[in-house]
Amino acid sequence: MLRAIAYRSVAAPSIESTRLDHIVRGAQRFNRLAGVTGAMLFDGARFLQYIEGPVDGVEGAIGRIKASNDHTRLEVLEESVIQTRRFPAWDMSCLTQPNTVLDHLFVAPWGSLDVSLDHVGNPIGGLQLLRHVMA
Ligand SMILES: Cc1cc2nc3c(=O)[nH]c(=O)nc-3n(C[C@H](O)[C@H](O)[C@H](O)COP(=O)(O)O)c2cc1C
Repeated sequence: MLRAIAYRSVAAPSIESTRLDHIVRGAQRFNRLAGVTGAMLFDGARFLQYIEGPVDGVEGAIGRIKASNDHTRLEVLEESVIQTRRFPAWDMSCLTQPNTVLDHLFVAPWGSLDVSLDHVGNPIGGLQLLRHVMA
């Protein structure tokens, strides 16, 4: 049994790229040991992160994430029990994206890997959009 969580948060004001590198390196170090994988997006002011892995590992990572002063206003977008990893190839890289991309992801429906499409054939689910951004 595995657990998956996606959340959004607001970065501390004037967060610098050296601090961002430190956060990502810290995340990668812990997650690797805990078997947690996922991805992080940043638009200069807000974060979106998706993590998945063993229940204990994800709980440890979320504990560290919630304890961090580098962001506030954490809101969970999706929390599920899953049987197999949805994105087994992802390590915890952080991609900087325009705020329009995060805006889309924040309002997207999360939870199912089933592809749903809008009227012009673009994927609309949060997991599909994230996969599209990470590709
Ligand atoms: C947006 C964000 C995402 C994070 N993701 C993870 C994570 O996936 N796993 C983890 O163990 N810690 C995560 N953390 C915690 C940071 O790695 C930790 O705060 C960082 O290493 C700084 O730690 P320090 O202030 O004790 O040096 C995250 C923190 C932030 C702000």
